[in-house]
Amino acid sequence: MEQILKVEGLCRDYGRGTVTHAVDHVDFSVEKGEFVGIMGPSGSGKTTLLNCISTIDTPTAGHIWVEGQDITTLKQKELSRFRRERLGFVFQDCNLLDTLTAYENIALALTIRKTPVRQVDPLVKETAQLLEITECLNKYPYQMSGGQQQRTAAARAIITQPALILADEPTGALDSKSARLLLERFEVMNQLRQATILMVTHDAFTASYCHRILVLRDGAVFAQLERGNQDRRDFFRRIIDVVTELGGDQSNVL
Ligand SMILES: Nc1ncnc2c1ncn2[C@@H]1O[C@H](COP(=O)(O)OP(=O)(O)OP(=O)(O)O)[C@@H](O)[C@H]1O
Ligand SMILES: [Mg+2]
Repeated sequence: MEQILKVEGLCRDYGRGTVTHAVDHVDFSVEKGEFVGIMGPSGSGKTTLLNCISTIDTPTAGHIWVEGQDITTLKQKELSRFRRERLGFVFQDCNLLDTLTAYENIALALTIRKTPVRQVDPLVKETAQLLEITECLNKYPYQMSGGQQQRTAAARAIITQPALILADEPTGALDSKSARLLLERFEVMNQLRQATILMVTHDAFTASYCHRILVLRDGAVFAQLERGNQDRRDFFRRIIDVVTELGGDQSNVL
């Protein structure tokens, strides 16, 4: 198995005097083609951990390797290149550009990476089909539903075949039907394209689509759950048990 991500001794402190250990000595790795979730109560360090991996935030200590390259030692210019070429992002607010159509938003990811023009059109169409947004390609973000926008953002994230797709609460703003559709598309991306996905969520239903879940508490890995051959519904129940043990807010759980 090819290792895509390795995190070792990762710490991120905030503040002086009273220091918050937002991420506190975290170790884990992700293999190619894995779909890994990060769960934990509000304030447990999920976003901070993801932001360190996405190079938006700088760790206080520790190392992060992506495809064998230690990204904590990269300079600013190398960092932006690394982000552009190796990572794909899907956020809660999907950050599509309002003045561009879905097609243009997706194609832009390729243009930035200087993909030859003749390859762009077939790639956009193929990816749109995978994400079930073909009928939206000529629409502007304001003409699309939240779920369609989120699937467009997912298309934009995957089209460049990044080593790692990072998603922070991608279903957070969606109703349960749209959430389900997005997650099913993530599964397809993962299975057909061998996309490696690391997804933050506080929601057990969303997490149940993952193969493996890291549960954070107070910035540290409190538990790891492996789905194995378990059916998604059974995995969902196991996740609920852990969330309950953590004293999580059940109202957040579908
Ligand atoms: N820029 C910052 N400055 C100071 N403290 C911060 C900053 N960002 C996060 N924190 C603190 O670090 C801790 C972890 O925050 P983080 O945003 O990673 O939590 P989270 O697990 O993503 O929570 P949520 O589920 O609410 O999104 C919290 O105690 C938070 O207050
Ligand atoms: Mg967060």
